Amino acid sequence: MQKHKKSHTKQSKVHKTTPARRRLAKTNPDIKKETKKRATSKKTQKTALLMRTVPFLWGIGAILIVSLVAIATCWIVFFSQRAPEATQASDEKYFFADSKYQGIRSKFVTRDSSREKTSIEYPITKNNEINKITAHAIDTADTTFKEFVQNGSSNKEKMTETISYQVTHNTDTHLSIVIHIKQDMHGAHPVSDSYFWTFDKTTGKPITLNTLLENNKEDLAKVVTLARLAVKKSLKEQKQPPAELEDSLTTEILQNFLVADTKTISWPFGQSAFLASFYGEVTINLTVDALVKELQHPLAKQLFAVPEPPAPQPQPAPASPPVAQNTSCPQGRCVALTFDDGPGPYTNKLLDILSGRGAKATFFVLGSKVAGNAGTLQRAHKEGHQIGNHTWGHPDLSQLGPDVINGELARTSDAIRAAIGTAPNSARPPYGAMSPAVTTELAKLGMSAVLWSVDTRDWADRNSDIVCNRAVANARPGSIILLHDIHVSSVDAVPCILDTLSKQGYSFVTVNSILGTMAPGQTYYAG
Ligand code: NI
Repeated sequence: MQKHKKSHTKQSKVHKTTPARRRLAKTNPDIKKETKKRATSKKTQKTALLMRTVPFLWGIGAILIVSLVAIATCWIVFFSQRAPEATQASDEKYFFADSKYQGIRSKFVTRDSSREKTSIEYPITKNNEINKITAHAIDTADTTFKEFVQNGSSNKEKMTETISYQVTHNTDTHLSIVIHIKQDMHGAHPVSDSYFWTFDKTTGKPITLNTLLENNKEDLAKVVTLARLAVKKSLKEQKQPPAELEDSLTTEILQNFLVADTKTISWPFGQSAFLASFYGEVTINLTVDALVKELQHPLAKQLFAVPEPPAPQPQPAPASPPVAQNTSCPQGRCVALTFDDGPGPYTNKLLDILSGRGAKATFFVLGSKVAGNAGTLQRAHKEGHQIGNHTWGHPDLSQLGPDVINGELARTSDAIRAAIGTAPNSARPPYGAMSPAVTTELAKLGMSAVLWSVDTRDWADRNSDIVCNRAVANARPGSIILLHDIHVSSVDAVPCILDTLSKQGYSFVTVNSILGTMAPGQTYYAG
């Protein structure tokens, strides 16, 4: 094409008849003749030019046709990928209608044949991204169903599918929506499934639980714990067999959630989401009041009516003998290092560090971890460290009834006694969460609650330098320092803590040494 264009330009230039020459030709016969001759030659040139231009035009035409075909193909591919338009069965009908939810229309798709009876309602919001995500979920379920219909026997009863949606929260900024999928393929079990999201209407992206809690590990852990308890309670109420949820009901599975109302966060799971299918559907509802501390984030406050956080836990001087009376702390400068949530893979390394420096510590252990680590616990006990009770499964005891609290604590004390021969005299309720029922049950079991006065927040900052600095900067005579031996960064911070505080004249003793005689049912924060 480039070549054609070039020669065309060149020829036009050579045979150009200027207006001046035309004027001259009128008066001068020679020039007239020459001009005539030129005109004839020009005609020939024109034909030649045309002959050369035709392929060029054909080229342009072909390119245009190819482009049009390409655009049309893209168009078809685009629309065929865009559900709901993808469903193209011959017996399929569809229509649009306003939904009862503001700003949302519904696309109804129905199929009624000798084999199936299907009714699908797609939500059509003003955000394409949201429509795409919801339609994709619906179409995935529908494709599976259609395969069953195609492969199933036509003699049998019709297979049925009903897909509908429900909006639980709909503001200018956010949308909570759940899609219910019911399919009866006359198989072993009818399918009852659900998909749910809380969307940011600006981005069209779902908000995850991680985002809602700003990735705070402890807050996420609390939500998982409460969710497990809620499921266990509901199974019990429905007289269903108890289920092990520790592996199946995890943070991952709770990422999508619904704002059921401004006081309730909800997970309306279909069957088989995390339990065997015979359990059926399980909806988990947690009240905002149970998560006041965890939902103090701007986004959470935008979605839910979150009350102000409770006043920080007072740290009154406990009703216990002062440090000076304690004979095991002659200089009066003692601290108690405490390690929660173990025993774990780093506990033995920690015991090496402690014994190397003649330091004693206290371990608040989880009953569920004692059985597999009895040897470690026996070593800790033999080397003069104290073992305390940190419950069996790490629940928030303040949310539980007396029987469950008692079970969590008693089972753990039994496991400790089985391992080291003596039951603990102290317990640390997870999250430091206390309630009158916790106090009562502790008293019944002959234990005191031991909280802490220095929080290293080592679970949040997995950095040994930061952890050491926090412990050292906040240590006072009588301090009870909170650490977790399940994090290697915390264990690695211990040499620094021991060396720095030793230089300041501190000794490292057990909780019992720092608190002296403790009263069962009483709560202690420091010596
Ligand atoms: Ni803990």
